[in-house]
Amino acid sequence: MTTTAPPTRVHAASRPDSPWWRQAVIYQIYPRSWADSDGDGVGDLPGITARLPYLRDLGVDSVWLSPFYTSPQADAGYDVANYRDVDPLYGTLADADILLAAAHDLGLKVIVDLVPNHSSDEHPWFRAALLAGPGSPERERYLFREGRGPDGDLPPNNWQCVFGGSAWSRVTSEDGQWYLHLFDIRQPDFNWENPEVRAEFEDILRFWLDRGVDGFRVDVANALIKEAGLPDWDEPLHLLGDDEGVVHEPNGKRAPMWDQDGVHEIYRAWRRVLNSYNPIDADGYSGEHDRILCGEAWVDSQERIARYVREDEMHQAFNFDFLKTQWRADDLRNGIASSYAAADSVGAPTTWVLSNHDVVRHASRLGLPVGTKRPNGIGVGDPQPDTALGLRRARAATALMLALPGSAYLYQGEELGLPDSTDMPDDVRQDPTWPRSGHTERGRDGARVPMPWEGNRPSYGFGPSDQTWLPQPASYAALAVDRQADVEGSTLELYRALLATRRERGLGVGSLSWWEGLSEDVLAFVNASAAGERNLVITNFGVEPVVVPEGAQALLSSSPLGDGGAVPTDTTVWLTW
Ligand code: NOJ
Ligand code: CA
Ligand code: MG
Repeated sequence: MTTTAPPTRVHAASRPDSPWWRQAVIYQIYPRSWADSDGDGVGDLPGITARLPYLRDLGVDSVWLSPFYTSPQADAGYDVANYRDVDPLYGTLADADILLAAAHDLGLKVIVDLVPNHSSDEHPWFRAALLAGPGSPERERYLFREGRGPDGDLPPNNWQCVFGGSAWSRVTSEDGQWYLHLFDIRQPDFNWENPEVRAEFEDILRFWLDRGVDGFRVDVANALIKEAGLPDWDEPLHLLGDDEGVVHEPNGKRAPMWDQDGVHEIYRAWRRVLNSYNPIDADGYSGEHDRILCGEAWVDSQERIARYVREDEMHQAFNFDFLKTQWRADDLRNGIASSYAAADSVGAPTTWVLSNHDVVRHASRLGLPVGTKRPNGIGVGDPQPDTALGLRRARAATALMLALPGSAYLYQGEELGLPDSTDMPDDVRQDPTWPRSGHTERGRDGARVPMPWEGNRPSYGFGPSDQTWLPQPASYAALAVDRQADVEGSTLELYRALLATRRERGLGVGSLSWWEGLSEDVLAFVNASAAGERNLVITNFGVEPVVVPEGAQALLSSSPLGDGGAVPTDTTVWLTW
């Protein structure tokens, strides 16, 4: 090691006894695709409950369940017809209670998804609105408008839907009115200016809090309020923004459907509801039982994200920086620094995410050439990722992420190093993105394929039959849980070691300082605990192996180290000394 420069402090340590959500590792379960108990090819709540011990052994703190509510599944459950019940596809309310109790017995928290921007078109309120007709109070719960043009047969404005096509659909020409759907045609947007909608959702929060959930992941939290008058907007609406982060605010003008200041009042009201369950003033309060809100807000800058996690709003918001960042040391360094600067400015923990159900899994994304625009799905005929390179970089990326202070989200199957299904036949795709984009964007099915548990079983042990709602690639057999458990060097064992070491050494509440002086292709930082225990983390993005400081002991590494413990390319190592 050649450097003598003092480390540059980026983020101060938090108290070791901070509430759980300041440092939690939260595992996203996509219920359709995690475990199927009855062999119908779709995952379900009893399937999840039976497999929960796997997550205790993996070493995560909490699960987040994507929606399992009553739904016609037009957007895989993000189209909710009854917010207070479980879809028969997934089980019953009693199954949800059993799941919660089993998770809590294992020491796992449970966060559920809340989808407040839109309902399903089968929600009783939307059905009533259609029946009641123009001018009725029922229509005031959604965003119905008259069309433009002499016959009103043009949409009320030019907004595009996120999945492609117009964001407006007309009820019928006799009826005359149109309704807004920022997502699928079967996902009408609520009118959040209507107090009835606000009261309803506060009640839904209480319904699940009373059943014992530990928090909510809030779907498109930045969309609930639309600019008054619904002015035209000429830009397309990409999921997650584009890689340059310019869709929501090009030329300094805010998009009329995203990140309007009025949303914050809603979250302040929700925080009051949650605080009534969090006994902050009670003797011995530790935050151990805090119920939390985590916002999914696609906004352009870290500063705008920070507004969602001010002291009286949400506890966490997703930080999607790593989903967009290219595999370059500088890009990651800048993203990490700006994330802490913004979150620290409001006293909130930052979060980290490499994969979720809306993006190409990071084991595939990072196998595309650096500089490739992030694809919305990969399919037959598309340039295919380099599988081995992608996995190697994915392991290094995860080891980097889990060394960072704050809270981290894992997406089911990433602990197995699963790639996306990148050669799925187009005719089995289910994501509305594919048809609505006129077959130009394949969408998200590749990341949603059922989990492989046992390499030799039908459906790789996903369920008791060979049915799976999306086909599993043959490559998943060798990646199944039973093929990796207790196998030295497997991705599953790497994740277990990362999570155990992160917990033991309190990395989630440590400080972060850059370790300067290595090559510019290297990202290096020290995560130190409040007690002063130092962990040096090095990720090598370059070609030359990196020599580690004398006396430093490797705790673990994402790929085998070279001679004298040198860090090879695309590898992250955790060291202590
Ligand atoms: C974000 C969710 O993650 C995504 O899957 C869904 O399609 C949209 N919100 C609409 O609910
Ligand atoms: Ca099932
Ligand atoms: Mg069933």
